[in-house]
Amino acid sequence: MTASERFDLIRHACEARQHAHAPYSKFLVGAALLTESGEIISGCNVENASYGLTICAERVAFGTAVAAGHRRFQALAIATSGGHAPCGACRQFAAEFCEGLPILLIDAEHPDHVTESNLCELLPGRFELRP
Ligand code: THU
Repeated sequence: MTASERFDLIRHACEARQHAHAPYSKFLVGAALLTESGEIISGCNVENASYGLTICAERVAFGTAVAAGHRRFQALAIATSGGHAPCGACRQFAAEFCEGLPILLIDAEHPDHVTESNLCELLPGRFELRP
């Protein structure tokens, strides 16, 4: 990932966060994926009055990317108030496609404050179902 791709990825995650539909939790999340080919695909959390139907921003981004034909990714950026790490379900969802995906955790109030992590660190011992 180039410095310019990193900058754009962070910006897209912050912009996607503005589209979050989170009337119940009020916790806005934006995610942006940098594909192997250099495209950026975003997602935001989408809540529902039937709470359990809520979809996390990261899984929206992965689903959108996969539907557009992408399977390999360079990095994932997540923007939240406070720079939170992704939930366990999203870690496992990401692990379907990437071994050690770099993950940038962005504090939306201070977008220059980015914590760098990766999927190996965040999800050791992931579930795998491959021959
Ligand atoms: N959420 C995400 O979008 N990603 C995560 O990794 C954790 C949680 C959303 C779901 C819900 O809309 C809100 O944050 C509060 O849990």
